[in-house]
Amino acid sequence: MDYKDLIASNLHECTGLDKEQILGLIEIPPKLEMGDYAFPCFVLAKTLHKAPPMIANELKASEDLVKGFDGAVTVDAAGPYINFRIDRGVLAGNVVSEIIEQGDQYGNRNIGEGKNVIIEFSSPNIAKPFHVGHAFTTILGNSLANIYSRLGYNVIRFNHLGDYGTQFGKLITAYRLWGDEAAMQENPIDELTRIYVKFHDECKVSSEREKELEDTARDNFRKLEEGEPEEVALWQRFRDLSLQVFEKTYERMGIKFDNYNGESFYSSMIPGVVKMLEDKGLLEESEGAKVVKLDEEGLPPCLVVKSDGTTIYASRDLAAVLYRHEEFNFYKNIYVVGLPQQLHFKQVFAVLKKAGYDFADDCVHVGFGLLKFKPKKDENGNEVVEAFSTRAGNIIKLDDFLDKTTEKTAEIIRKNSELRGGDMTDEQIAKVSEIVGLGAVSYTYLKAGREKDILFDWDDMLDFEGDTAPYLIYTYARIKSILRKAEEQGFNASVDAVSKLTAEDEYAVIRSLADFKDAVVKAAESYEPFMISRQISLIARNFNRFYNNSRIINADTQESREARLMLCKAVSYCLKSGLDMLGIGVVEKM
Ligand code: ARG
Repeated sequence: MDYKDLIASNLHECTGLDKEQILGLIEIPPKLEMGDYAFPCFVLAKTLHKAPPMIANELKASEDLVKGFDGAVTVDAAGPYINFRIDRGVLAGNVVSEIIEQGDQYGNRNIGEGKNVIIEFSSPNIAKPFHVGHAFTTILGNSLANIYSRLGYNVIRFNHLGDYGTQFGKLITAYRLWGDEAAMQENPIDELTRIYVKFHDECKVSSEREKELEDTARDNFRKLEEGEPEEVALWQRFRDLSLQVFEKTYERMGIKFDNYNGESFYSSMIPGVVKMLEDKGLLEESEGAKVVKLDEEGLPPCLVVKSDGTTIYASRDLAAVLYRHEEFNFYKNIYVVGLPQQLHFKQVFAVLKKAGYDFADDCVHVGFGLLKFKPKKDENGNEVVEAFSTRAGNIIKLDDFLDKTTEKTAEIIRKNSELRGGDMTDEQIAKVSEIVGLGAVSYTYLKAGREKDILFDWDDMLDFEGDTAPYLIYTYARIKSILRKAEEQGFNASVDAVSKLTAEDEYAVIRSLADFKDAVVKAAESYEPFMISRQISLIARNFNRFYNNSRIINADTQESREARLMLCKAVSYCLKSGLDMLGIGVVEKM
């Protein structure tokens, strides 16, 4: 029985408010003793011309409000709120059996059935290193894609590769002058970065040299746009080699895409976009360039065609969104891209709207902050930012970051294993560290509101007792070990007595398990996976409190042991489900 749903249905009967609206209004009281759900009566004050506490009192007395509750839910008026309290035993039985039924897919729904949701994320730039900034979009986007598919949406994962633009004219030019074939084979992105930097350094030599290089680059980009075979072949090679490097990282992180249509894919569609905007009378000349003015939106004009006739980033995005709508008739088209590009997306969506495409309203820019390294104090008390080796200047490459994290994780896991008398082989340690380390990185990006900057610190990230992935995975592994031990001793879990799990610690675990389902929906609605990370972190804390205060295998009665083991099982499923939504794996032992 879904009591929240039943409560909403009854409130709908009593008040005439829309059920969906009611579901959105129902709150979880800040303290457990206040009940399980609360409905604030403020919305009804206007139409009923009564004060909210009075409305709460009258509603409380209504027969219709308690229909189907069968004594399992008690109703209270508290000021402007109606509080609903579900019988602890009934709640425990309901929640645990639902979880056992769904297993590690607990939290899934079918609210998105038949709806296409495009989630564009990662979108690194060809020939440039994949850095920790791209990790944010990659990890956040992957998590949102997981969450939406678990809610039943048909998710299409797009990687809008930065594989086009004037910089490719420069790269072609630089490659012909200084490209080193062997280095290209060895590490294409490093080599492409090297020659790109060299191009810019050479431009600084003299203004003649700069003009010569820039002219050649412009010429090469034009040839590329016109489809000249030699330029196209070079570009294709840069793209293929870079993509191979990116794909290795994706594979390591367990991330997949359905579509790699980068910016280049849309370049041939741009004349159509330009014509459409022209036909609608939206394109204006401005200093030789073509723009769409957006004054009425309070936005600067959107540049569509540059004065030299070449196309730019925004025009490719316009072509892309029209293509996506045509192909997928999307319910939502989500861009997981850093906050610095907020204006760009506002402009693109405003142009669409101006051109009469209402699906502009279904396009969403999901922005995020920056990863910053927490300064540390050196011996003299001066603040220093911990840096670690990168070959490409100040940029921290994701692969280096992941390597360093798994290394540090392995140290901890090895130490723990040694404390237990060395119960893990090197191979096991390596395997576990990869999952826990990558999980730690992902969790760091997902544990707080996405628009906040992250103040990164190694010790925080790998604190096995903190709000971290290692803590959650460790809790999961601990539960699995309890379950294994019980099985070895011939003890089983059973739902039969779960309704007896009404002690304070048990109730707290069950309450937090019950709230997980809503957290998933809220995470999707607000594009904030941290609603899930926060919830599973609460579940893990509640579980560990229960674990420390209660005997499980050695419980007083068989009934109590079986019920508690079942609760353990439910918690393990829910943790696994939540971590999986965040793109984080689990280990059975660590
Ligand atoms: N490649 C871009 C970058 O690295 C991000 C692309 C964002 N997506 C888009 N549709 N414009 O900054």
